[in-house]
Amino acid sequence: MWARIERHAEAVRGDLGPHPVAVVLGTGWSALAELLGPVRGRRGVGDLDGFPRPSLDGHTGELVSVDLDGVPTLVVAGRCHLYEGRDATEVVHAVRVAVLAGARTVVLTNAAGSLWPDLAVGAPVLISDHLNLTGTSPLVGPAARGCDDRFVDLGDLYSARLRSAARTTLGSIAEGVYAGVLGPQFETPAEIRALATLGADLVGMSTVLEAIAAAHLGAEVAGVSLVTNPAAGLTDRIDHDRVLETAGRSLDRLVPVVRALAHAAVLP
Ligand code: HPA
Repeated sequence: MWARIERHAEAVRGDLGPHPVAVVLGTGWSALAELLGPVRGRRGVGDLDGFPRPSLDGHTGELVSVDLDGVPTLVVAGRCHLYEGRDATEVVHAVRVAVLAGARTVVLTNAAGSLWPDLAVGAPVLISDHLNLTGTSPLVGPAARGCDDRFVDLGDLYSARLRSAARTTLGSIAEGVYAGVLGPQFETPAEIRALATLGADLVGMSTVLEAIAAAHLGAEVAGVSLVTNPAAGLTDRIDHDRVLETAGRSLDRLVPVVRALAHAAVLP
């Protein structure tokens, strides 16, 4: 597994050059890459043998190199999810490739349901912490890259340094705890009440495994959710198409947040 990740990282670095920052996009958000800055280059992952590609929406995976205000940023479009039948190592493959290709900071973006009325639909929210409720971890399995480095400290998983710098740039921005679930069904109202009791503010089906994998490789992690709907029980009905439509419509609200985090990432 690690040999393949290293091979893919070498190919990406060879074709697109080094990138101190990687940004992982939510499903169907490839338009965000162009909103972040001029595109320096693109690379499909189709020729990278064993690079997992999303099964949804006919999307192929793509890595886009963007000049984000002078910061070379590797944008990962075409995320894979557990609910597609992928295992945890496949879900985090692209993040591992990005980090081994040189990214020291990984910014994870996602669409999420909101558990509270003050986290309004369309709002970007900085992830302050997570609950990994997927029942799995990318660090399960045969140890690689040394055997004792899998007991990773997650005490500051969503970097307080990056969040604080982003808050300074952006003024006020909401923060919340993201509950990562398996999906693909949306939650029941009882599950949402239980998640609220557990301390969750947001719920979604991605991000938590990628955050763990990035931290395991020593990268600094940031996460941003875009609220696409009130969670189950707080709205009449959750409709996947409307979730996608809302995400597309509010995508530009993520741009200043990702930009602030990328700037903070390269601060000395
Ligand atoms: N639940 C789970 N995942 C989601 C939701 C939700 O309400 N909205 C967007 N992704």
